[in-house]
Amino acid sequence: MTGRERDLLADMRDVLINQEMLQARIQELARAIEADYTDKSDLLLICVLKGGYIFLADLSRALQRPHEIDFMGVSSYGARTESSGEVRIVMDLKQPVAGRNILVVEDIIDSGRTLDYMRRNLLARSPASLRIVSLLNKPSRREVDVPVDYIGFDIPDEFVVGYGLDFAELYRNLPFVGVLKPELFAHLGH
Ligand code: IMP
Ligand code: MG
Repeated sequence: MTGRERDLLADMRDVLINQEMLQARIQELARAIEADYTDKSDLLLICVLKGGYIFLADLSRALQRPHEIDFMGVSSYGARTESSGEVRIVMDLKQPVAGRNILVVEDIIDSGRTLDYMRRNLLARSPASLRIVSLLNKPSRREVDVPVDYIGFDIPDEFVVGYGLDFAELYRNLPFVGVLKPELFAHLGH
């Protein structure tokens, strides 16, 4: 471990989901997804940037069936720990999704606003089907009801970082999902 990694680890109050738990659950999700898409059906994974990038990389490699990937960048937080409710597309897909079977790959569903917005936006482009997989879910925080087809872990209402999730753009590279020490973000009102 480098000194820098030790510093990031020292900012954690708890490790909520360790590497082994993440990898085991991703294998289970991949099996469930494979079972729902028959061998020859078209499948396009749409990764929600930035937070979904690590999950997408692991899920894509766990899937034992052909699929394509594309990326969509959305932004709703800035440097705060609660959604402003305003979702912006900061990078759109490279390709049309009309007639495709799309699976949206997201890091976490909190209020539900981001996925609700994405879902409506993508449905307006007439895909053949649309499903959603979210690695993490904070059910107690939901404000908008969004149908999520596959969920990795339900977690309590705590601000988490690591495995793609950031706080003010840091901690994404941690190999686990952890809870930050409260003093590090207390002044931001979460
Ligand atoms: P929602 O729009 O409130 O559902 O929030 C979804 C987005 O907020 C996710 O895609 C994350 O990028 C971010 N987010 C929500 N909760 C957390 C958290 O605990 N840690 C880091 N990012 C979060
Ligand atoms: Mg996200």
